Amino acid sequence: MNTALVRKRLVIGNWKMHGTRASNAALLTGLCAGVAVVHDCDLAVCAPFPYLAQVSSSLAGSGISWGAQDISKHEHGAYTGEVSSTMLGDFGCKWTLVGHSERRTLHGESDQLVADKAVSAIKAGITPVVCIGETFAEQEAGRTNEVISRQLAPVLALGAQSLSQMVLAYEPVWAIGTGLTATPQQAQDVHAFIRAQLSELGVPQVRILYGGSVKASNAVSLFAMSDIDGALVGGASLVAEEFLRIAAA
Ligand code: PGA
Repeated sequence: MNTALVRKRLVIGNWKMHGTRASNAALLTGLCAGVAVVHDCDLAVCAPFPYLAQVSSSLAGSGISWGAQDISKHEHGAYTGEVSSTMLGDFGCKWTLVGHSERRTLHGESDQLVADKAVSAIKAGITPVVCIGETFAEQEAGRTNEVISRQLAPVLALGAQSLSQMVLAYEPVWAIGTGLTATPQQAQDVHAFIRAQLSELGVPQVRILYGGSVKASNAVSLFAMSDIDGALVGGASLVAEEFLRIAAA
């Protein structure tokens, strides 16, 4: 089976902590108006919690789905400030990022916690987008594969059944928000390394997105790589036209 053929392209916007009701309305209107240029690609946006209701209603019927940027690993209970996957599932949430490097770095999220969050999402019928990636220092030291393997270990340990309900996103930390992008070949090498591990577990069809300063101008060359199945887009997802051009690439 040629798994490249069964892996539909996926482009997800990560709005991070940006937006107001007014700016979101303009962005969402732009996305809905322009989405017809996108073919054979799943498209989604992950917005801050307070705006999910706005995103959900504005995107209804557009073919663009929506998700959260994080979830709790707990289903409910005394966890002030947390939001559970059960709650998000209640609103029809389709995706959630887990383990974004900003959460790992700024909030000390461990590899195991990220895997636990992925499990929680799957239980609620939400597809976790598990983010992994090495820092600049780790890359310089030639430790990329070692770091990726360590981050992936508790996720791969969940087994084929769970893995088949996930998406992975390779985001080298040094490329996030910096304007530096991994070259298509650098990204492909890491994606192929991840794909080999998925194949060993019998799930080569799991989609692997690339993230880190993806723009319309570099999307075509990244998407030309055989193991890059789409993109997780930060800054460029805040401009409707740019985001749609990436998805159309
Ligand atoms: P960027 O962010 O596209 O702004 O580099 C990507 C991400 O953090 O998901």
